[in-house]
Amino acid sequence: MIPSTVIVVGSGLAGLTTTIQLLTHRIPVLMLERFSHPGGNSIKASSGINGAPTPFQPVPNSDSVTAFQADTVTSAGEPLVAATGAERTRRQNLIETLVENSSGAISWLADEQGIDLSRVAQLGGHRFARTHRGAGKKPPGYDIVSTLLGRITGDELFRMETGRRVTKLLREVGGQVSGVEYTFVRDNETVVERAYGPVVVASGGFAGDAQGLLAQYRPDLAGIPSTNDRREGTQPLLQEVGAAVVDMEQVQVHPTGFLDTKDPEAPVKILAAEALRGEGGILVRGDGRRFVNELEKRETVTRAIMEQAKELPTTARQWDVNLVLDEGTAAALQTHLGFYTMKGLMRQITVGDLAEEMPSLNEALRDYADVVSGKTKDSFGRQSFGNWTLTKVQPESKVYVGKVTPVVHFTMGGVVINERSQVLERQGRPIPGLWASGEITGGLHGQNRLGGSSLLECVVFGRIAGDEAASYYRGLEGQCPVPS
Ligand SMILES: Cc1cc2nc3c(=O)[nH]c(=O)nc-3n(C[C@H](O)[C@H](O)[C@H](O)COP(=O)(O)OP(=O)(O)OC[C@H]3O[C@@H](n4cnc5c(N)ncnc54)[C@H](O)[C@@H]3O)c2cc1C
Ligand SMILES: *[C@@H]1O[C@H](CO)[C@@H](O)[C@H](O)[C@H]1NC(C)=O
Ligand SMILES: *[C@@H]1O[C@H](CO)[C@@H](O)[C@H](O)[C@H]1NC(C)=O
Ligand SMILES: *[C@@H]1O[C@H](CO)[C@@H](O)[C@H](O)[C@H]1NC(C)=O
Repeated sequence: MIPSTVIVVGSGLAGLTTTIQLLTHRIPVLMLERFSHPGGNSIKASSGINGAPTPFQPVPNSDSVTAFQADTVTSAGEPLVAATGAERTRRQNLIETLVENSSGAISWLADEQGIDLSRVAQLGGHRFARTHRGAGKKPPGYDIVSTLLGRITGDELFRMETGRRVTKLLREVGGQVSGVEYTFVRDNETVVERAYGPVVVASGGFAGDAQGLLAQYRPDLAGIPSTNDRREGTQPLLQEVGAAVVDMEQVQVHPTGFLDTKDPEAPVKILAAEALRGEGGILVRGDGRRFVNELEKRETVTRAIMEQAKELPTTARQWDVNLVLDEGTAAALQTHLGFYTMKGLMRQITVGDLAEEMPSLNEALRDYADVVSGKTKDSFGRQSFGNWTLTKVQPESKVYVGKVTPVVHFTMGGVVINERSQVLERQGRPIPGLWASGEITGGLHGQNRLGGSSLLECVVFGRIAGDEAASYYRGLEGQCPVPS
C-alpha cells in the first residue's frame, strides 16, 4: 500500500522544522500532538539559539565552526571521551553536523522564515557570544514556534491533529516502520486509531517524567523541581520497535529556576533564562556573597550551588540562592523582566535595602563592578559581562533580585540517531521508515548540553529528517506508481 502522508509526532520546534522541510518538497504531512495546543517545550525557550559564525554576532567576529565545535566537545565530556569505535565516530559526526550547519540554521530562520535573531548573548561554556534571540518583545521560543506555525497553517498538504497521543509504532515483518497507533478522547471514550506512512518522531525529552523514566534512570534527582510540565517520556515507544537508547542517565539540572516565595513547594518552576546571566547577571548566596563564575557550564554552576549554598528546609530539594541584575542587564532583557516582575519572581530594590537582607552584598557588588570596569580580574574567572553597567555602586543604585534554585531541565539522552536523523538499532542498523530529531534523541550533548544548542539541534536535525523522509516517501511512490 502506498501511504498518503508522512507522519510527524510532536509539534515542537523539531516537528515544525521537519514539517516545513517536507512541505517544501510538497510531501503531505500529518502531525499528531498529544497536547491540546502545539509548541511543546520549544515555545517556552527563553534564551535563544546558537549559530557560528553569523552576521548577527558582535564585530569583529572571531567565532568559528571550529571554536563552536571545540566548546561542544569540551561540554560533552566523559561520554564522548570514553566512547570508542563506531560509537565515537557517530557522536563526532552528530557534533560536526550540528555546528557546521549552525550558521545555515540561523540564516534559514532569519532570512527564509523572517524571524528576528539580531540580539546575541554569551552563555555558559561558550567562548563567544553566539546565542541568538530577537531584539523585540517576543521571547525566542514563542517567536520561532508561532512564526513557523503560521507558515504551515492553511497549506493544503498539512494537517495537524491535537489531543492525539501516539501509543505505538507499527513495524512490518520486512523491517520498515509503516505508521503509528494513537488514542484520543471522543464523547468521553478513548478511541484508538491508526495512521499509515513513514514516521518522524519529534516528541521531546523526559525531564517532566518524574515518576517514570527519571525515577528509573536518575532516582537521585527525586524531589528536585523541574521546568518541564509533568509528562511521560516517549523513548520506550521507539525501544519497542528495536531502537537503541544512549546516555539516558545524563540529565541536565539547570542552575536557575525561579523559586516563587508565594508557592515555594511548586514542583514545576518558571526558568530564569540563562540569558539573564549572559547579559551580566550574578548569583549570590543568601548572605550576599558571590561564589561561582556564573558563565561556567550548567553542570558546574549547579554543583557549586549544591555545595556552597544552604539547602532550604522545604520538602522539595532547593537551595538558598539569589539572581541579581543591574539596570543595564535588565534593559537588555526588558520583556523577560516585565514577565518575571509581573509574576512576582523578581523585584526591584535599592542596593541599600537589599544589603540589609544580605550582609555581604555591598562588597560583592563593588568587587564585581571593579571586575566589569577592568580594574581587577574576577577571582572566579568570569570574563564576559553582557550589558552590566553598574560600575559605581551606591546605596540608592537600583538592582533586580529573585530567588532561584536548581531545576531538572533537559535530558541529554534518548534514541540513537546517525547524522541523517535515522533511528538506529543496537547493532547500528537504521530502522527503515523511521527518523527522530530534537530532544527525543541522545548522544550529541554527552554529559552537558550547552545553552542554545537544543533549539539548534531541532532545526538542524529536523531539516535533515524532513529531507530524508521526503526522499524515502518519493521512493515508495516510485516502487508502485499510482495508476493515472
Ligand atoms: C523553560 C525552558 C526554556 C528553554 N530555553 C531554551 C533556550 O533558550 N534555548 C535552547 O536551545 N533550548 C531551550 N530549552 C530546551 C528546548 O526548549 C527543548 O529542548 C526543545 O524545545 C525540544 O524541542 P522538541 O521539538 O524536541 O520537543 P518539544 O518542543 O518538547 O515538543 C515535543 C512535542 O511532542 C508532543 N508529544 C510527546 N509525546 C507524544 C506522543 N506520544 N504523541 C503525540 N505527541 C507527543 C509533546 O506534547 C510536545 O508538544 C528550554 C526548555 C525549557 C523547558
Ligand atoms: C547539513 O545539513 C544537510 C541537510 O540539511 C546535510 O546534508 C549536510 O551533510 C549537513 N552539513 C554538514 C556539513 O554536516
Ligand atoms: C462527558 O462526561 C461529562 C462528565 O462526566 C458529562 O457532563 C458530559 O455530558 C459527557 N459528555 C458526553 C458527550 O457524553
Ligand atoms: C545596556 O544598558 C544601558 C544602560 O542601562 C541601556 O541604555 C541600553 O539600552 C542597554 N543595551 C541593550 C542592548 O539593551
